[in-house]
Amino acid sequence: MRYGEGLLEEIRRRTDLVALVGRRVKLVRKGRVMWGCCPFHAEKSPSFKVENERRLYKCFGCGKGGDAFKWLIETEGLSFPESVEKLAAEVGVELPKWSPEDEEREQKKKSLYDVVELAAKFYEAQLFEPAGREARDYLKGRGLDGAAAKQFRLGYSPGGNNALINHLTAQNVTQDDIIAAGLARAAEDGRPMRDFFYNRLMFPIGDGRGRIVAFGARALEADAKPKYINTGETSLFSKGSQLYNFATARAAAIKAGTIIVAEGYMDVIALARAGFTHSVAPLGTAMTEDQLHLLWRTAPEPILAFDGDAAGLKAAHRAAHLALPHLKAGYSLRFVFLPNGEDPDSFIAHNGAGAMAVQLETALPLSQLLWRAETEGKDLSTPERRAGLEHYLKEIVDRITDGKVADYYRRGFDQLVFENFKKRSSAPGPARGAPRTAFRPGVGGGKFRGDFKPRPLPGSPEAVSSSVQSSALVRSGQAGVRAAKEAELGRLLVESPEIALAEAELLAVLDLQDPSLDRLRHELLNLAASGSSLEKAGVQAHFTRKGMAELLARFAGSAVDDPLASFQRAVADLRELAGHPIDARRLLERRRALSDRPNDGRGNI
Ligand code: CTP
Ligand code: MN
Repeated sequence: MRYGEGLLEEIRRRTDLVALVGRRVKLVRKGRVMWGCCPFHAEKSPSFKVENERRLYKCFGCGKGGDAFKWLIETEGLSFPESVEKLAAEVGVELPKWSPEDEEREQKKKSLYDVVELAAKFYEAQLFEPAGREARDYLKGRGLDGAAAKQFRLGYSPGGNNALINHLTAQNVTQDDIIAAGLARAAEDGRPMRDFFYNRLMFPIGDGRGRIVAFGARALEADAKPKYINTGETSLFSKGSQLYNFATARAAAIKAGTIIVAEGYMDVIALARAGFTHSVAPLGTAMTEDQLHLLWRTAPEPILAFDGDAAGLKAAHRAAHLALPHLKAGYSLRFVFLPNGEDPDSFIAHNGAGAMAVQLETALPLSQLLWRAETEGKDLSTPERRAGLEHYLKEIVDRITDGKVADYYRRGFDQLVFENFKKRSSAPGPARGAPRTAFRPGVGGGKFRGDFKPRPLPGSPEAVSSSVQSSALVRSGQAGVRAAKEAELGRLLVESPEIALAEAELLAVLDLQDPSLDRLRHELLNLAASGSSLEKAGVQAHFTRKGMAELLARFAGSAVDDPLASFQRAVADLRELAGHPIDARRLLERRRALSDRPNDGRGNI
């Protein structure tokens, strides 16, 4: 460990924790302790306390707590050393260097940062020189203007004459440093040292603090091979543990509550230009475990965006399996498959930012992706094949090391197998005696909709037939009725969010067309699953904190007398419209059972 406990204690001692936390949470004094509403879960009455004396914060509702370092890690997504550096700077504690060797290594790294920065500046300038004309035209052809180039510090590496080596040498950078920074190939076989990048569009890659450490470089010709080359491993750059645009995206992700992972540099730029500044990409390799942990430090459910083709599905499947052993309560992944083999860059160019937002809002939870990967397009008509399916599902669950999450997945899969293959009742909706546990892998984790016919993956035959169905719906004029019903449902949920607790089961199986409403539903179910009270003011505060206040505003309305009954009626109507009517007698029974129970505000689940 680089920093000793004595030093950390000194930083804690000098830090005014109440003031630090107070930047984000409104605190009220009660005796020696400050209290506020916990920023980590929705609540109305304060159960979150901060004590300068003990230098700790703690929430008695959700259990989160820690010291000033932990606070920065949790709220700003910093790593532990970063939190130490930040606080030390704020309170004026000088951090010790390590050993003389460490010191020397640090010094070397420092000068390498400077070298790479000099190179970035050189490439940037070249883009606007006459030599950069072709690259400028290329950018223009891809819809990027000078402002975009400046924002991402794009550049151009001129061709063939060792322009960068000459430039850096003239500034007294040593040949060793140029090679150590990955900017030149060493001399070999009688050939002199030469520029690593030439005649390419340059994408500077920053580290977690935004310091440029490497480059991705794209050929300008359409058919050039390789299309991209990247800086190799250096002491500043490790492609498997860094992410493109991470420093910028990290802050945006904490605000947005999620982070988007695209496949390429151009995708990240297009996403950011369209307003999704919380976007990153791996660096020329498939996502690694290190990158997954980086992502989870910024947001509980990163959204991975893939092409909707076979390669995209395969990559998604790979990422899903990579994540399984690392899942823990509250942390998961979601997946977007863009139609027609588009990537985010081309999808946004063709369909606009709004369409991208819809794709992101309706991202598939990890649990659903796994289920679909094992079932869709497969003939599971024989007992042997179903037994095989259960075997593969068990293998998935066995790879999850977190016991609680594994348990939720096991129960969720069991229920889906039951719903899809074992249940022999003709009425839709859970049959009598069916397992009634709603599937919630971890707090805030993905969930199964429990759709009896899961929404098919794009491009599958089912997807085609379901889009045929929905266009038939539009033709018959029912789409408007359905939208109105959905809006009514939205109003009821916003005015009386406690419905989501009482009727989580009904809510979980609803197939909604309005993506905002679906998002509202998703968030409310997550809150319900996390044991929050779902009282209106608390829910409002939670949504506001997560930057989703406009979602509430969209459905705001006036309170009704019996929200639960209105909700159930609206759901029944919707199900009827969708061709999956609910058994009215069952509903009535449920309503009776609910009103017979003492109302403890925690619903019936
Ligand atoms: N990549 C790479 N080396 C290659 C091809 C791709 O390192 N030979 C990396 C790059 O980081 C690239 C990402 O993989 O951004 C995605 O590649 P691809 O989907 O082929 O390209 P796009 O990002 O769509 O690039 P473009 O839109 O510029 O064609
Ligand atoms: Mn592309």
